[in-house]
Amino acid sequence: MNFSNEEQILHSWQQNAIPWTVAVREQQIESRQLVTNQAIVETVMSYSPQTVLDIGCGEGWLARALHAHNITVHGVDGIPALVNQARARGDGRFDVMSYEEISAGKWQDTCLQDTCLQNTFDVVVCNFSLFGNESVAALLQQVPTLLSPGGHLMIQTLHPLMACGDQPYKDGWRAGSWASFSQDFVDPAPWYFRTMASWIGLLSKSGLVLQALIEPLHPKTGKPASVIFACQSNRIFHQ
Ligand SMILES: C[S@@+](CC[C@H](N)C(=O)[O-])C[C@H]1O[C@@H](n2cnc3c(N)ncnc32)[C@H](O)[C@@H]1O
Repeated sequence: MNFSNEEQILHSWQQNAIPWTVAVREQQIESRQLVTNQAIVETVMSYSPQTVLDIGCGEGWLARALHAHNITVHGVDGIPALVNQARARGDGRFDVMSYEEISAGKWQDTCLQDTCLQNTFDVVVCNFSLFGNESVAALLQQVPTLLSPGGHLMIQTLHPLMACGDQPYKDGWRAGSWASFSQDFVDPAPWYFRTMASWIGLLSKSGLVLQALIEPLHPKTGKPASVIFACQSNRIFHQ
């Protein structure tokens, strides 16, 4: 079957839900253990939220880590097998919802039926969960409607300078790879590379004002292990 790049992303996560859960829970990803897990937890905590929406929550580790700090967390992900894994561990509310559904207003519809925890959140967080092009742009357009007044969006993603490799430093689809992951992973999905300027431009076009850009450093290489964007809706600046 011919899948679009966007469809391949979801298809790949569907196939790799179990090895991914094992990799996260058995702490197989060194950069996560050494740097990026702590970086995103500390960044979220620094805004003292009471409520968090974790978009692309995967098997739910971040929701559990934030729940341990008495934060109410709602996680959503497009892959039922990952949501099931998250639900089985508990410490949060977890639902199957794709970015495409959120962009189409499914969150608001669900809340109208009174079946979601919250309409809006103090923090919306996306931890290494934004890999597409149009799907990500459409999702980010919707994020301001998911933020409580004064709420923040936090995105942790691959650092463009480190992820660029030998290819030209310009936006575009790249081939995926599971190099350095276990043999159990199959069918890596393509992902959409964005330069730093392109990320910042996309946030601004989505009605988000960048408040902080954090570059957590890998202790072994001294190079950025990721980038974290922390933003606020520009609505509060227009009131
Ligand atoms: C690298 S995992 C990160 C999971 C989790 N945030 C973490 O830190 O472990 C990427 C996640 O994004 C989710 N995802 C990617 N594209 C999606 C889409 N279009 N709709 C919903 N979920 C998506 C995948 O299912 C997967 O759980």
